[in-house]
Amino acid sequence: MSTYATEHQLARVQADQFWLTQARQLAWHTLPSLGLTTQADGQQRWFADGQLNTAYLAVDAHVDAGRGEQLALIYDSPLAGRVQKFTYNDLLEEVRRCAGLLRQLGVEKGDRVVIYMPMIPQATIAMLACARLGAIHSVVFGGFAANELAVRIDDAQPKVVLAATCGLEVNKIVQYQPLLRSALQLAEHQPEQVVVWERPEQPITEADFVRWQDLLVVAEPADCVVLQATDPLYILYTSGTTGQPKGVVRDHGGHAVALHYSMAALYDTAPGEVFWAASDVGWVVGHSYIVYAPLLRGCTTLMYEGKPVGTPDAGAFWRVVQDHRVKVLFAAPTAFRAIRKTDPDGVLIKDYDLSSLATIFMAGERLDPPTLAWTEQHSQKPVIDHWWQTETGWAITGNPLGLERFPTKAGSSCKPMPGFNVEILDGEGRICAPGVQGYIALQLPLPPGCLTTIWRNQARFESAYLKQFTGFYASGDGGYKDEDGYIFVMGRIDDVINVAGHRLSTGELEAVLGGHEMVAECAVIGVADDLKGQIPLGFAVLKDGVYPDLDDLERALVAKVRNEVGAIACLKQVMIVDRLPKTRSGKILRATMRKMADGEDYQIPSTIEDPAALDEIQQHFR
Ligand code: COA
Ligand code: AMP
Repeated sequence: MSTYATEHQLARVQADQFWLTQARQLAWHTLPSLGLTTQADGQQRWFADGQLNTAYLAVDAHVDAGRGEQLALIYDSPLAGRVQKFTYNDLLEEVRRCAGLLRQLGVEKGDRVVIYMPMIPQATIAMLACARLGAIHSVVFGGFAANELAVRIDDAQPKVVLAATCGLEVNKIVQYQPLLRSALQLAEHQPEQVVVWERPEQPITEADFVRWQDLLVVAEPADCVVLQATDPLYILYTSGTTGQPKGVVRDHGGHAVALHYSMAALYDTAPGEVFWAASDVGWVVGHSYIVYAPLLRGCTTLMYEGKPVGTPDAGAFWRVVQDHRVKVLFAAPTAFRAIRKTDPDGVLIKDYDLSSLATIFMAGERLDPPTLAWTEQHSQKPVIDHWWQTETGWAITGNPLGLERFPTKAGSSCKPMPGFNVEILDGEGRICAPGVQGYIALQLPLPPGCLTTIWRNQARFESAYLKQFTGFYASGDGGYKDEDGYIFVMGRIDDVINVAGHRLSTGELEAVLGGHEMVAECAVIGVADDLKGQIPLGFAVLKDGVYPDLDDLERALVAKVRNEVGAIACLKQVMIVDRLPKTRSGKILRATMRKMADGEDYQIPSTIEDPAALDEIQQHFR
């Protein structure tokens, strides 16, 4: 059998042995003897008798192994006009002091800390500092507006909120302090302290926010707390099908083992090499592949505070690869679509030395074949699509370059990684034949690294993922498997949409539109967009007896989403309609509306309540 087949088979039939072997590659405090066990509460956990600390593995262990002078983190910000480099020795010092700062504020094992920050080194340092103490971090993407932040503060109930004075976007400074202020006004839970990193671009203006730099001066460096492998490392909120985001919980032990394994088996990296995930620490890609995995592997990780285009041009990615000798670049296809749009002939690529670059990985949305072909042609590098989710924390399918390289098939994210057993199921849970589309499901148990529960809501964990198909995790994605075992992920089959690699819930956007005093009911669908993959489009039905200026109302609804969810929602249009097309049981025909908007063929469901409602929608698209 090939290396991949052997490893995949071993992880399937002797999972405990396989993963305990992987676990032994890390410097545990107490090595686990147990693989997957069922706890007293019926929940399954990896490595229950192991003890470790993820921050130790990611930082201290490399210093202890004599690699303290190696670069751990490079911060490159064309927006701030700064590059800053940290060796493992430097990073250890920063993380110890930041952990001391938190301890001084009373943060202990199990306490939550919300981190609302832009892409600056302090975000990574803060995450590692929490891990060092056994505190549970919950990073909120800096592009989310006050309401989203407030919802997360109420759910995670942090003792401390860590933030920065501002984020930097092209031609604008995103002021965090007013956003924080209104989030705290909206939230029921109030943290004991709000600590703010004062950036040179914006001073602290709020008197009750504490200056991070001042606390650091007096902080006593803190050492690592010994943790159980099963202790939670972080909560990361992601969009579900309802308005309430789901707090995905990840543990210390399984997470460290899975990510460390992925760095070798999938990304084919070795200690000392430079790994760049061009994402944001607020997303799972940032958690796993900006912060934890590259550091667990002893690589140099790169934090890039910039855009693929406009900072200053479409050569930005290639410039960073050249300047920092990047070996692996990982980004979302939308970033390459943006580069291609601005530099269609790849002229700027030729200005840079890409000899260090071995591979370009893409994820976050389906890698469309034209973007794959363009990137391969112009970069002259292998381009690998891999599929994963916030919930899994690492790739479910991919081309496992460290084990074996499979030929690329456009439109496919390749084969299941060892540990993941992927099946395509029909509505009744029967396995589909090759080539037949269905629900993509993962056979239980899940490998290490995947979510262990939804924060404070085990029932939601079970109902969202485990109830639909007995013995399987339901991914929420649809697609098919071909005769060679390649997986083709075609898109979400629920009400989640993907905007520029960002996952959004149409239910959440509907809750915001529906909150307007004039709106009786509404629907949001994701329609195809050349650059961002999908963008949301809203429809609203007004309450009886209100006759606003429709243009004004549409603008107000767009602004409401921008203010409450954030600019990244990219909801640019809301159509006011007389009624929404529904089935007789009252279900809005979102899938039919989406097909209409995208100009695809559609069938009018036989259960439609009023066909004229669909005609009205159709007229809007003419
Ligand atoms: N903080 C505050 N605002 C933010 C933000 C952040 N971290 N990130 C984005 N925004 C704002 C932008 O400034 C923009 O505001 P505007 O409407 O006032 O112009 C809005 O949100 C939309 O941003 P974005 O989706 O980034 O669109 P764009 O047109 O500025 O850029 C791309 C398009 C393709 C270049 C960009 O979406 C991109 O780089 N995507 C990659 C996504 C990614 O890394 N995903 C992670 C998954 S791997
Ligand atoms: P998130 O949890 O934000 O990472 O979003 C996960 C969702 O993004 C998945 O459920 C998919 O719908 C989509 N996705 C991520 N990577 C891919 C990929 N390589 N191919 C197709 N869809 C993807």
